[in-house]
Amino acid sequence: MIILDKRVEAVRLALVMVGLPARGKTHMARRIERYLRWLGYKTRTFNVGNYRRERLGSHQPHRFFDPENVEGREARREVAMAALEDMLGWFAEGGEVGIYDATNTTRDRRSLLAERMRAHGLTVVFVESVSDDEALIEANIRQTKLHMPDYAGMDPDAAVRDFRARIEHYESAYETVQEDEGSFIRVIDVGRMVVAHRVQGYLPSRLVYFAMNLHVAPRSIWLVRHGESLFNVDDRVGGDAGLSEAGKRFAGELASHVRALGIDRRDVRVWTSTLRRTRETAAPLGLRTEEWRALDEIDAGDCDGMTYDEIRTRMPEEHAARREAKLTYRYPRGESYLDVVRRLEPVIVELERERRPVLIVAHQAVLRALYAYLMDRPQKEVPYLPIPLHTVIRLTPITYGCEEERVALC
Ligand code: F6P
Repeated sequence: MIILDKRVEAVRLALVMVGLPARGKTHMARRIERYLRWLGYKTRTFNVGNYRRERLGSHQPHRFFDPENVEGREARREVAMAALEDMLGWFAEGGEVGIYDATNTTRDRRSLLAERMRAHGLTVVFVESVSDDEALIEANIRQTKLHMPDYAGMDPDAAVRDFRARIEHYESAYETVQEDEGSFIRVIDVGRMVVAHRVQGYLPSRLVYFAMNLHVAPRSIWLVRHGESLFNVDDRVGGDAGLSEAGKRFAGELASHVRALGIDRRDVRVWTSTLRRTRETAAPLGLRTEEWRALDEIDAGDCDGMTYDEIRTRMPEEHAARREAKLTYRYPRGESYLDVVRRLEPVIVELERERRPVLIVAHQAVLRALYAYLMDRPQKEVPYLPIPLHTVIRLTPITYGCEEERVALC
């Protein structure tokens, strides 16, 4: 892992989720996992529910979860321990951040887990999701739980009743995380309020900040590469050229496309880079735009302004090195894709925080990195993701990812 300069020692962090069913734990675990993977940390989630379904079958009635049911309790303990052992094995092979996703609602269970984890040299942070917001819980049950294999083929209302009974079993034994249990981040009502207790170190602190900005409000994000520039026409990298005639036409069509979307345009945030080609593309929209330096194209350093052919013939070693390892290759006195990912982190946090639709007009390398985050694509794919000119990419977050729509305009 190379991303965060502030790292002085190896990261071995266990995030232990805590909370009643339908409080968005898995959702939060997945968001954290996506964020950390995008930043380059070896991150993996161990979902105890999946272990239960695999080992004991999916159709367990709510009585199985009753803390008074000795057999059920023992079976649940066994699957929890199996997931824990797998997680410890994964850390032994070089894992960096393990997310242990289960209810972990009792102090006993948490202390059992934390002791084992700490004995393996892991830093443990509990991430507790708390909510009494009935609408949120109901939405969560209907949107995610009813689609679980546990309720496949069952009448939805009967499934909701069963799931609510399951929640009641957990409620009867639930003990919120106490200060003497160690570090914790408590997220209330999906980020309305966040409490952090003894959260130390660079990465755990970043996670507090990230958790503070999460929300589940539906909205779209548009990723648009600037219209064709005069440099694109010549196949030159970098620079600060204006738009070609075709690029200007695209800018006009983009404005019509956005008008035809039927959304309140005053509500849309438009972000561009500081470079001419993105500003000229956004201008016909007639909306207030915000310029981000962080959205500027990958800095090609000494190669800025050259064509790909010129780089190949005049700097063959550079050309070969880039072909060999495009993700980590850094242009002489310029940037690598990993550098781009790192400088985009504040953009990602702002994107997570923002509840309004966001239209981002930027550049190929930058949009590849943003797209990889939103679509949860592996870091190694980033430099090759297709982000064509004159194509509007609309991403709409759904339960555990984003729905994608691409429209080629001209
Ligand atoms: O060619 C247009 C461009 O935006 C260049 O300015 C930039 O260097 C390049 O795309 C990034 O794409 P790649 O990493 O594939 O060269």
